Formats: sequence, structure tokens, C-alpha cells
Amino acid sequence: MSAVGLGGMPMSIEGRPDHARSISTIIAALDAGVTLIDTADAYHLHADEVGHNETLIAQALAAWNGDASAVLVATKGGHLRPGDGSWTLNGDPAYLKQAAEASLKRLGVDAIGLYQFHRPDPKVPYADSVGAIRDLLDEGKIRMAGISNADPGQIRQAQEILGGRLVSVQNQFSPAFRSSEPELRLCNELGIAFLPWSPLGGIGKAGELGSRFARFAEIGRDHGVSPQQVVLAWMLAKSEQVIPIPGASRPESITDSAKAPELALSEAELRDLG
Ligand SMILES: NC(=O)c1ccc[n+]([C@@H]2O[C@H](COP(=O)([O-])OP(=O)(O)OC[C@H]3O[C@@H](n4cnc5c(N)ncnc54)[C@H](OP(=O)(O)O)[C@@H]3O)[C@@H](O)[C@H]2O)c1
Repeated sequence: MSAVGLGGMPMSIEGRPDHARSISTIIAALDAGVTLIDTADAYHLHADEVGHNETLIAQALAAWNGDASAVLVATKGGHLRPGDGSWTLNGDPAYLKQAAEASLKRLGVDAIGLYQFHRPDPKVPYADSVGAIRDLLDEGKIRMAGISNADPGQIRQAQEILGGRLVSVQNQFSPAFRSSEPELRLCNELGIAFLPWSPLGGIGKAGELGSRFARFAEIGRDHGVSPQQVVLAWMLAKSEQVIPIPGASRPESITDSAKAPELALSEAELRDLG
């Protein structure tokens, strides 16, 4: 799949654009060669619109004139938004199975391409939640299994429960948030994908990235590219396992981010960026 994916969250939560702009943004990503789209059933605003983002993606893929079968839609279950702005958790196996079934229907597919357990629920043993993901794999409801917001112990535990079939870990990682380095190293060791979330610092902060991280901005100026492209190229250079999923709510941002794999940073530049 493409070296850079699209994060769907900004199109469905607080500050989201109108429907037409979201569809244009997803189609711009597809036209730019992006073949991985990250979403979640919890990417919605109001209580009665669970799966808002999954529905947008299904609509955009149906409207696109390219080969939608080559696009991997990665969704997640285990987080909920009751509609008051908060995020809650439910890692109960029966709930996860029902949530996956609902995502499958919204995406309009026979099996979900990649299903990720969104976040450990302290009220439910991790093995039980990941056990539900294993069952979904065994039943053919999902093609691939991933986890998110996991520490190294949970990654190893999930890999064991899934019988070696864990394909990805999605954790926060950006110039401002580097504490997922141990998980990244473990993904390298296990040969599984590492998907940095909020790679540009998150919605509302990504635009001003260049003013907060001067060296990324300087290198961007030297290469005639945005500081956001420099961040993504820096992540890509860390390991072949890294697939950043920058969010977007405008076609221009994902079109720009999708060019990051073309940017080659020198050894000296990478050393500076850390
Ligand atoms: N697993 C989890 O717990 C978890 C948590 C958070 C996020 N995620 C996933 O990770 C994805 C990415 O994280 P995020 O959306 O929170 O934050 P992000 O990717 O760090 O930042 C998103 C913002 O970056 C801006 N942007 C993107 N490319 C740009 C460019 N080239 N130049 C300038 N601005 C650019 C976009 O602006 P515009 O809106 O103006 O286009 C967007 O609002 C999410 O969409 C979601 O799929 C997962």
C-alpha cells in the first residue's frame, strides 16, 4: 500500500467540514495515490451518528473512478462517543464483535480489510478484548488484525493471542510526542507495521507545526516543501514499517502530505531531527 495513508478523523469530529468537502478530500487522497485510509466507528460527533466517518469513506470510494478494491480501509472498535464531546471505552468481547459487524455493513464489504482494537479498556482483561479480534479473524469477518494505543507488553500479548497474525500497531507519534519509540522498535523486530497517529501534532496544531519545530521548517525551506512533508519524510526514514496516517479535512493538505515519500532527507538532516 502507499507509504502515507489518510486519517479520516478531522472529517467527522469537532470542526469537521461539510459533506461535499469531505468527499473531495477523500477523493483527492485517492487521486494522489493513497491506498490506506484510517477510520473508526467512533469518528463522529453526535450520539446518533456512529460510524459517520466510515460512511463518508464508503461513499467516496463508491464515487471514485479508480480501483477501490486496491484501497485498504482500516477501521477500529472499542472507543465510543456518547455525544457530549467525551470518549469512552468498551473492550467487552461481545460488544467488539457487534461493533465490527456494524462497521462491516457501513463499509459495504464482505470482510473488513484491517480491524484495530482502538484502546485497552481497563475494565476488561486485554486478552479477552484481543480474543474477540482473533475470533473475528477466524470467522473471516476481518482480513487483518491490528491494535492501537498499546505498550510493548500488550503488543507481545496480542501477537501471541492472535497466533502471530498481528499486522499493525497504531500509536501516537510526532515531533512533539516521541515516547512511542519502544513500540516502533518492537514493530521493527516483529516485522509488523507501525502507524503513527496525529503525526503532525493533531487537529488544530498541525498547521503551526513549522513555528513550533524550527528545524523541520528550515529543512522544508531548503527543499522547497512544507514542514509537514518534512515530518512525514523523517518518520518514513525511521523504518520501512512506518506508515503515517496524517489527517485532513481539505484536499490540499492530503495532496501535500502524500508527496512526502518523494522527499529524500540527508543523513545530516535526519541526525538533526532526531
Ligand atoms: N488510534 C487512536 O487512538 C487515534 C487517535 C487520534 C488520531 N488517530 C488517527 O490518526 C489520524 C491522524 O491524526 P490527527 O488527524 O489527529 O492529527 P494530524 O494528522 O497530526 O493532524 C491533522 C491535521 O493536519 C493538517 N494537515 C495534514 N496534512 C497537512 C499538510 N501537508 N500541511 C498542512 N496541514 C496539514 C490537516 O489540516 P486540514 O484539516 O486543514 O486538512 C488536519 O486537520 C486521525 O485522522 C485518525 O485517523 C487515531
